Amino acid sequence: MSTNNNNNVCDVVIFGGHGDLAMRKLMPALYHLCNNGFLDAGSRIISTTLSDMTQEEHLELVKTKLNEFLAEGEFDENVWANFSKRLSCVKVDVTQKEEYAQLEALLNRMPDNERVYYLSTSSSLFGTICHMLQEWNLVNDKSRVVLEKPIGRDLESSRKINDAVAEVFDESCIYRIDHYLGKDTVQNILALRFSNGLFMPLWSSRSIDHVQITVFEEVGVEGRWGYYDDYGALRDMIQNHLLQLLCLVAMEPPCSIDSNSVRDEKVKVLRSLRKIGAEDIPLKTVRGQYGEGVSQGKSVPGYLNEENVKRESNTETFAALRIDIDNWRWNKVPFYVRTGKRMRKRYSEIVIQFKDVPHMIFPRGGHCIEPNKLIIKLQPEESIKLVIMNKIPGLDESIRLRPVELELNIPEDAQRNPTAYERLLLDVIRANPTLFMRRDEVEAAWIWADEILRNWERLGVKCRSYAAGTDGPSSSIALIERDGRSWHEE
Ligand code: BG6
Repeated sequence: MSTNNNNNVCDVVIFGGHGDLAMRKLMPALYHLCNNGFLDAGSRIISTTLSDMTQEEHLELVKTKLNEFLAEGEFDENVWANFSKRLSCVKVDVTQKEEYAQLEALLNRMPDNERVYYLSTSSSLFGTICHMLQEWNLVNDKSRVVLEKPIGRDLESSRKINDAVAEVFDESCIYRIDHYLGKDTVQNILALRFSNGLFMPLWSSRSIDHVQITVFEEVGVEGRWGYYDDYGALRDMIQNHLLQLLCLVAMEPPCSIDSNSVRDEKVKVLRSLRKIGAEDIPLKTVRGQYGEGVSQGKSVPGYLNEENVKRESNTETFAALRIDIDNWRWNKVPFYVRTGKRMRKRYSEIVIQFKDVPHMIFPRGGHCIEPNKLIIKLQPEESIKLVIMNKIPGLDESIRLRPVELELNIPEDAQRNPTAYERLLLDVIRANPTLFMRRDEVEAAWIWADEILRNWERLGVKCRSYAAGTDGPSSSIALIERDGRSWHEE
């Protein structure tokens, strides 16, 4: 067990403490931080819940969920004994002022602890919770608030929420989380681009033909229909996770790695995204919704029959887009992005496709000659590979070529890779906002996404159906093939 003594003594208060995210991601992340000595002995984790629960019942529930969501063999009774000492829960109906009394009493038992309020609730409650905390005097200059995405469902609602939170917390204390930024390989994009001079002259329209970003999930909506149907893939994944990945690939070198320099460059990319107007919708966007099919060898229902309820909905569970960036570096270099639920396979990757050689001296017939590719894999395994052409050894009369993959990272399988939430929670505890989104970033992303959403609505664009367990609607293949290119397939 490694220890780290430089962390702040913190009370982490999780609103929505018994919700899916809290149990599936936050508790396991905090458990690992505790196990690795990153939670100071005086730090506490307080879950707010909607129902009355005794301390014993709360501990029992967290223990059961940890056993469910930690990887096999990771639950350990000794770690639990240490971790569970820090856990408590209080019932708070967040809209009722008097309900915060118990929370206040608990927090004021250790008035010097720094406070992290993690709002894992619907974003429509963010403003209310922040104001209640202020009315109870629970916000001081050492308090931080974490906002889960998506913040609002369009620019207007996001502005309202951000305004309400800003009445209580200074921007420097607001941590807007996008867990994709906590993934190790995502941070490795910065390392790869900005610590290797090798890529500098290659990283532009001079050498790059196009970029692909794919985030495919095997799962369906997993009991989150209520939330998901109101959002859909564009709001749930593209407006945040995929645009953040695009920003890291496309941004200019920041002048330093400090939080504002990095975020300034990302905002510039977001502001350079070409609007997708009504006339572009048929050619540059695809909306899909999964029908019934087979996933992991089992028959699964379509989106409209999830949880055995027959519903009507035009919410997209798949989206593919061609995105253009209007700046010098990316002139005429399209970014193709796609994401979907109930896909053939779970995988996420970024493919940087370089241009073909200007003149090919080897005959193409019978060879598999491909332009170079840099493949950054985020899930399920993480890796960075450069695909280059190589001679097949032998005495053939003419040189025969084949693509080979150079691994650009050393897989460190001996070590457990921390999860995105571990990294991000630790950053909040340490008060380091670099990997969190600033308000202007979120709003720039909404301005661009809203245009597509409005046009889909205005033009009545219907979702194309695709069978669960496939690669999405055929129109997503047409979207890229129309430009003479094709999706990189796993
Ligand atoms: C969340 C979305 O932000 O990301 C979910 O709300 C999605 O719908 C999830 O399933 C995917 O995260 P990951 O890390 O499993 O790719």
